[in-house]
Amino acid sequence: MISTSILSIKDNLGKNLKKLDLTSTDFMHVDVMDGIFVNNISVAYDVYAELLDSCNTPLDVHLMVSDVKKYIDDYRELKPVIITFHYEAVDNHRDVIDYIRSCGIKVGMSIKPSTKVEEILELLPYLDVVLVMSVEPGHGGQEFIYDSPVKINELDKIRKDENYSYLIEVDGGVNDITSKLCNNADILVVGSFITSSDNYEEQIEKIRKTLD
Ligand code: DX5
Ligand code: ZN
Repeated sequence: MISTSILSIKDNLGKNLKKLDLTSTDFMHVDVMDGIFVNNISVAYDVYAELLDSCNTPLDVHLMVSDVKKYIDDYRELKPVIITFHYEAVDNHRDVIDYIRSCGIKVGMSIKPSTKVEEILELLPYLDVVLVMSVEPGHGGQEFIYDSPVKINELDKIRKDENYSYLIEVDGGVNDITSKLCNNADILVVGSFITSSDNYEEQIEKIRKTLD
């Protein structure tokens, strides 16, 4: 599946979100940044809320924030399919997992490039999605970190061995070349490769071809 990150759409956000909504993308990936957990700030919630309200594509919300609960309370209103928080942002992981699930939303947890899979082993049975960051969180358009597929493959082996059901998502620097390294991931987040082109659907099709 392809989740198109809207982070790098800078101009005509409303018009371009409508254009993306008409493509075959499986999700719109909404990156939320607070200037604390990462050194970048995203478009205000109210702006996203108004624009996304008229879109029909399922939403995949990625919270790169410290005050996780506050942002869950905002973004749950958009009825996303998935809300993902960062492992490094909180101490009470089980509470956050239970809280997102109690909202009827699939629970994702993300790990930064420096966080090892061994650190999150105990949480894996409780997750619907594990998001592997393949760039440092905070900005679109960065270069894919080439040891990320090692983590994806590790997570895939663990879910087979333990019979866990989480999906694996990869985010950052994914294009029609790096996507081929991520064949054990279920959801590919793709930002600038799609949104820096005028023809979003053509770029999505280029990625899909690499997944066959
Ligand atoms: C990075 C974000 C990503 C990013 C992906 O912090 O979480 O979702 O926007 O964009 P590209 O594909 O341009 O790396
Ligand atoms: Zn993201």
